[in-house]
Amino acid sequence: MGLDIKSVLIVDGVGQNCAKILTSHGIPNVTKAKITSDELLKEIGNHDGLVVRSASQVTKEVLNAGTKLKLVARAGAGVDNIDVAAAGKKGIAVINAPGANALSASEFTCGLMLALARHIAPAATDFKNGQWMRAKYTGTELHGKTLGVIGLGRVGRQVATRMNAFGMMVIGVDPFLSAAQCEEFNTTKVQLDELWPIADYITLHTPLVEKTKNLINAEVLRKCKKGVKIINVGRGGLINEQDLLDGLNSGLVSGAALDVFEREPPIDPVTLLIVQHSAVLCTPHLGASTEEAQIRVGEEIAEQIVNLVKPGTFATPIAEITRILRK
Ligand code: MLT
Repeated sequence: MGLDIKSVLIVDGVGQNCAKILTSHGIPNVTKAKITSDELLKEIGNHDGLVVRSASQVTKEVLNAGTKLKLVARAGAGVDNIDVAAAGKKGIAVINAPGANALSASEFTCGLMLALARHIAPAATDFKNGQWMRAKYTGTELHGKTLGVIGLGRVGRQVATRMNAFGMMVIGVDPFLSAAQCEEFNTTKVQLDELWPIADYITLHTPLVEKTKNLINAEVLRKCKKGVKIINVGRGGLINEQDLLDGLNSGLVSGAALDVFEREPPIDPVTLLIVQHSAVLCTPHLGASTEEAQIRVGEEIAEQIVNLVKPGTFATPIAEITRILRK
């Protein structure tokens, strides 16, 4: 006996294939690509299921307003925009599509690293504005540098593999992998305190949970190699933004490439100063934004929903109800 879902609300621009798959399996759905938090609060009471990306915050208030709600599906990996604990208490299932966009996020991370090392974005902007400035944009090679990967899950290990090909020495932190498992993708397992002083580049791929909040902070930056470069395609909140800004201004940090922010879109003055900083390359949460990833995510999440309603329809394993994030 599957979940009784009579209507699914799909928001945040989730791929249209999600709606198509649900419809073709007799699951009524409504798409509102853009929805404000007030609109979501008003609308959610009409639906048994909700599909979100990262823009909508599925707070306790939204869950309370969703009087019929049985399922919240995250079309992506991170469920930090969903109050999973509150959902659990109300018996609302939370599912995600953890692997579907990992390849895109890892390619994006590597692209940011290259762009940071070679000042590609500011050099291109200046050139478009008529400035031919070769000396100003002398960069550094990635070859021979040490890359510290924090979190060797689906994205982190693909970044490690790709940056190995650039001749970087990859070290990584992940409490769930053994040294031998890390060796399989040419990564030396280290502890955080060993990583800080030797990494030239640090890239973050760990979920945002209580333990990882403000992982990069003033104390850590003091332990890092002077001039370290930081890449974050993981989650805003992993970096203490004020401490990063101070680190950039003092030269402790020589560059940062950031795709995610504590609040998106950013409005906090500190975040805005980071976005404007000349040593920072910023993008608007684009890690998973590729045609391929969005097709995979839409498909994976829709198939999971269909399987919850009509168990066994798809061969993909049935969704883990209220997936417990790695602690
Ligand atoms: C994720 O958690 O997988 C990404 O943030 C997905 C997204 O961009 O929606």
